[in-house]
Amino acid sequence: MKRSIIKGVGRYLPKRVVTNFDLEKMMDTSDSWIRERTGISERRFADLENGETTSFMGAEAAKKALEMADMAPSDIDFIIFATLSPDYFFPGCGCPLQIHLGIPGIGAMDIRNQCTGFLYALATADQFIKTGMYKNILVIGSEVHSSGLNMTTAGRDVAVLFGDGAGAVVVSASDENNGRGLLTHHLHADGRFIKELWVEAPGARFRPHITVDMIENGKIYPTMNGRYVFKHAVTRFPEVIMEALKAANVSLEDVDIVIPHQANQRITEAVQMRLGLPKEKVFSNIHKYGNTTAASIPIAMSEALEQGLIGEGKLVCLAAFGSGFTWASTLIRW
Ligand code: UT7
Repeated sequence: MKRSIIKGVGRYLPKRVVTNFDLEKMMDTSDSWIRERTGISERRFADLENGETTSFMGAEAAKKALEMADMAPSDIDFIIFATLSPDYFFPGCGCPLQIHLGIPGIGAMDIRNQCTGFLYALATADQFIKTGMYKNILVIGSEVHSSGLNMTTAGRDVAVLFGDGAGAVVVSASDENNGRGLLTHHLHADGRFIKELWVEAPGARFRPHITVDMIENGKIYPTMNGRYVFKHAVTRFPEVIMEALKAANVSLEDVDIVIPHQANQRITEAVQMRLGLPKEKVFSNIHKYGNTTAASIPIAMSEALEQGLIGEGKLVCLAAFGSGFTWASTLIRW
């Protein structure tokens, strides 16, 4: 059977930096509250008016990933795009991405699994490669949150957490038999908790999908039961990481780096302590970007590569938790 290897990784972050002090001017919050509770100092906001959309950012990240893989867009035979903030209600972002990259005609699918979206996408790509259906797949995570947040005091508990950005990887088929590649994936969801972190509207369960009343009552904004989400996250992260290690028959000591979805620095630290891992083995960049949902893991992978934390032969564990609830892990021998 073919193995899947990651040939290229890229990221794109909007230029506009929004600091906690900037947020203080929009709502009743403070830099110290945000930093103490979340570890976030700043985040990026997309310039939508000048075309910095979810699909555009995904394409820019993809171009970097292709460059690293030494490949052209025309070498790609399938697209998997993870996002909860597509440019349009439909079609998904895989289609406009083709226009940005100039590759119409190949298959494109969107994955809507929120903070776990990138890992669901990666696992899906791996299956297509292993069965021999595709050879080179672009897997993208990209989000524009800034246009969908309630930037007033009423929405402050959620608004301060999120930022915009994109990351992408090229997953390619390999015949090598040296242990490298995507080793194991573990995907979970528990729909009993949909309302703990969600955006209720617009939705096709309403006629029409959106009303003035919904807008006025804030149904178009994400709402979250923060403490509840936090409690589940700090349990599910260690659990799903250990599940991956067990499946691959390796121990925590074998892992070179854990790259968790960047939800909250306190969650990351709690996971690190629960697992008894040294701090430097758990990647964090949330202070710069906030929570970028499906984009956070590929952005982090791209930075970890640049910092030399990922390299050939390293054992890398990716893990995520988020709305749904959904949670997942992937283990990679780089
Ligand atoms: O990818 C998964 C997505 N989400 C997450 O992982 C988030 C998980 N949850 C969390 O990270 C935390 O629950 C938060 C950071 C969202 C909140 O931290 P917390 O320690 O659970 O605070 P809290 O919600 O219990 O709120 C404490 C206080 C409240 O005031 P009172 O009732 O004590 O007077 C809030 O109204 O902090 C207030 N508050 C704020 N104050 C200043 C809530 N948001 C803010 C804010 N600035 N932005």
